[in-house]
Amino acid sequence: MNKVQVIGTGSYVPSKVVSNDDLSRMVDTSDEWISSRTGIKERRISEGEDTSEMASKAAMKAIESAGIKPEDIDLIILGTATPDNFIPSTACIVQSNIKAMNAMCFDISAACSGFVYGLDIATQFIRTGSCKTALVIGAETLSKIINWEDRNTCVLFGDGAAAAILQTSDVEGILAICRGADGSKGKALVSSAIPVKNPYVSKEMLDKQVDATVKMDGREIFKFAVKVIIQEVEKLLADAKCSLDDIKYIVPHQANSRIIDSAAKKLGVSEEKFYLDLDKFGNTSAATIGIALDDMVQNNLLEHGDKILLIGFGGGLTYGGLIIEW
Ligand code: COA
Repeated sequence: MNKVQVIGTGSYVPSKVVSNDDLSRMVDTSDEWISSRTGIKERRISEGEDTSEMASKAAMKAIESAGIKPEDIDLIILGTATPDNFIPSTACIVQSNIKAMNAMCFDISAACSGFVYGLDIATQFIRTGSCKTALVIGAETLSKIINWEDRNTCVLFGDGAAAAILQTSDVEGILAICRGADGSKGKALVSSAIPVKNPYVSKEMLDKQVDATVKMDGREIFKFAVKVIIQEVEKLLADAKCSLDDIKYIVPHQANSRIIDSAAKKLGVSEEKFYLDLDKFGNTSAATIGIALDDMVQNNLLEHGDKILLIGFGGGLTYGGLIIEW
């Protein structure tokens, strides 16, 4: 089996900042409610850029930080719940934008677990020798599927993209991986696609209007998130034969600071161990973990040999995580 390392990261968020006060002028909410219930202070919202544009910008930064050329990339995996189109995949649009013409390209639909699922899949391709250099992207334009009149959801989400480059290496950088899903809880977070409409369906089906905006059972997701963080952190540590003391940072999916507080208490670990930037960006679904990772790199928080634990969870419901040695 080949060894795998993360050799570069990049991220991109739109320049438009939308504060909690801005939202309080649109729906019946307040900075106090949003800050205390979620930890979010502001988020970035696209003024027209679609997912592929943000993804391509994050990808170019990751390529630069890895010191490789776009043509070195032989695999592009893009996690998103908000693709530009059904066809072509957003990964293919990115490939064309960044001129990575030697790559196989596909999108994955794993909602907020998209980035960690992507890292997992890329690792398997590289370990088996099928690919040498992979570009993994998590990118979302959630603002296009949010109901801007629903205070339960519109305060939570933001837009953005993040990327990482993985490559074969002499030393192992991926120490443990976990993954899973519970489709029986899928209704807790839904954004509907096009219904079946053709000459053979009933009139009721033809007349059916679909609302694609996000519908969420926040409490169900909250419980699921706390459960999987605890369960999967313990599993990852056991697989990597290390303890929480060996981990410099836990980088969780950035959905809600109260989810992290609750998981930290149950794990018996300080909240400081968790790297959080959701006050600045809110929940950017597949992009949160990658944006946080790149934020840490930009702020020189990671040194060679540091171990970090990534843990994602979200719609599906899905979850996954990795322990990475930097
Ligand atoms: N501003 C003001 N009040 C709000 C509000 C807002 N933005 N959103 C909801 N409320 C109200 C509700 O209407 C409810 O009012 P009521 O008691 O009069 O009915 C009250 O606040 C409490 O709502 P509740 O849903 O119980 O709040 P909560 O403490 O569970 O927090 C979430 C709601 C969404 C913040 C929380 O459940 C959560 O973060 N869940 C996880 C969601 C998530 O991470 N989703 C992404 C998937 S990865």
